[in-house]
Parts: sequence; structure tokens; C-alpha cells
Amino acid sequence: MQKIGVIGGGTMGAGIAEVCAKAGSDVVILEVKQEYADAARQRVEKSLAKAVAKNKLSQDDADATLGRLRVTTDYADLGDRELVIEAAPEIESLKQEIFTQLDAVVGDDTILATNTSSIPVIKVATATKRPERVVGVHFFNPVPVMPLVEIISTLVTNDETADAVTSYVRDTLGKTAVRAGDRSGFIVNALLIPYLCQAIRMLDSGYASAEDIDAAMKGGCGYPMGPLTLIDTIGLDITLAAAESLYAEFAEPHLAPPALLRRMVDAGQLGRKSGRGFYSY
Ligand code: CAA
Repeated sequence: MQKIGVIGGGTMGAGIAEVCAKAGSDVVILEVKQEYADAARQRVEKSLAKAVAKNKLSQDDADATLGRLRVTTDYADLGDRELVIEAAPEIESLKQEIFTQLDAVVGDDTILATNTSSIPVIKVATATKRPERVVGVHFFNPVPVMPLVEIISTLVTNDETADAVTSYVRDTLGKTAVRAGDRSGFIVNALLIPYLCQAIRMLDSGYASAEDIDAAMKGGCGYPMGPLTLIDTIGLDITLAAAESLYAEFAEPHLAPPALLRRMVDAGQLGRKSGRGFYSY
């Protein structure tokens, strides 16, 4: 697989497009408006410039990577893609609409993948006429830096599809691939989100300050970021959506999203991207 499509050029979509193009694939990012498509390209340019500044990439390789990347607002430009990875907002109906549209423009053998972190993959797979060739590929933020990708097979994904995507992730992208079933949270978020929510409850109860909770997990467990800084980085809205999805799936009381998380999202305090979360930016 070398012709890759990416739906959505936000943080995750741009990151996915960047690593695919850097690995030598020909990549097309689809966005809904030209200004978003241009912004997606700028995100990739900025990240590549950072990689060059940190001596992770030569300027020639950064230029070549950009040469392999196109942006578009037209689904028809995805017609020749072998693998399309959707990284649109976490709205089930939106993703289903995207998969139905994609199904109509790509070839019969094209594999369709979703980067969802919280929506069951089968729900988007059944929006197509090829559910056996739909798979979850869950990257982590920041995509160019985090080595892991979770590969999720639904009850109907065929082995050929999961194997082809696993091989692309491992052999072409050089990432670590793990396989998980189609359950909310897969592996990482099923463990990470309850931990993050527990840190919010600890803060809300006045048990410890944000700074001390973060310092404790950095210094005591060697985590690169404390949980509240990590939520600010992921986005409080994204964290809430993931927590809601885990609670909806398993209905266990400890998975219920903390009230403070909901109130902060209501207040528009979404973390780093809005300038305010558990810290100010
Ligand atoms: N391209 C390539 N490499 C880059 C890069 C880029 N754009 N930006 C940074 N790097 C490299 C740096 O060169 C550096 O490499 P070395 O360690 O070899 O020197 C490394 O990445 C770290 O970069 P920085 O020094 O700039 O930054 P840092 O040390 O402060 O680390 C971080 C930043 C990697 C984000 C680190 O804080 C971290 O790992 N945080 C936790 C992130 C995390 O947990 N992500 C998962 C979120 S959950 C999720 O995504 C799933 C979901 O569904 C919610």
C-alpha cells in the first residue's frame, strides 16, 4: 500500500498524513473547506520544521515529504487510494456519512480505516458495502513522536485486511502495532481514561493540587507528563468523549465522567487548544 488518503487535517489527521508521507507514501488529505485543507498542510509543514530543527530529519527529506502530500476538498481525488484513514471529529453520524461517501468513490479493494478512539469500529463499517475491509487504526498524539498504533478488528473484519494494515504500520511506518478487539477504549484508553478521570476527582475533592498531582506521577512513576497536563494536551472535550464512551459501553460507576470535567467543557475550558484547562497557556 503506497497510495494513502486521510480524511480530516486536524491534529491527528495531519500527524497521520505526515508520518505516511515521511515513510514514502503518496498522501492526499481531504478537508471540508479549502482553508482547513491549507491549514492541514501548514500543520504538517510546522511539524516537519520542528523535526528538522531537532535533527530528526534532513531538510531534503522534509521537502520530499511535502512533495508527496496533497490536500483537497473533493472526494473524487481519493478514487485511486489503496488505504484511507479517517480522522474526523468523534461524531458517529458524521463518520458514518464519511464512510458511505468513501465507499462510493474508492475501488473495491481499498481498505477503509478509522482513527476513532471511542466509537465502535463496526458502527462505521456497516455504513459501507465492504464491512470486512474496514478496520480501526488508532494513532496517538503527537503522531510523529508516539510509536504506538492500535489495530482494531471488528467481528467481521477479515484477516487479510487487518494483516495488511498491521504490516503497513509496522514495516512502512516503523511504528509498534498492537491488536485489540472492538471494545470502547481498546487497550490504551481503557487504561488511560479512568486514570485521568481519577486525577480530576482527586483535584475536585481538594485532596491535592493540580501541580502536586502532576509532579507525583512524573516523579513517582516516570511518566513524561502528569495526568492533568496530559488532559490539557489531549483536550478536555476529547477526554470527555472517551470517558462517555467507556461508561456507555461498560456502565461501571468508576467509569462515569467526573462532573468537573463536564463543567469545564461546558465553560469552553478545553485545555491547551483553548488557552485554558487545568492550567493557563
Ligand atoms: N517530529 C519528529 N520528532 C519530534 C517532533 C516532530 N514534530 N517533535 C518532537 N520530536 C522528538 C524530539 O526530537 C524528542 O526526541 P528525543 O527524545 O530523541 O530527543 C522527542 O520527540 C520529545 O520531544 P520534545 O523534547 O520536544 O518534547 P518533550 O520531551 O517535552 O516530549 C512529548 C513531548 C513527546 C509529547 C512527551 O511529553 C510525552 O510523551 N507526553 C505524553 C504523550 C501521551 O501520553 N500521548 C498519548 C495521548 S492519548 C492519545 O493520543 C489517545 C487518545 O485517543 C486520547
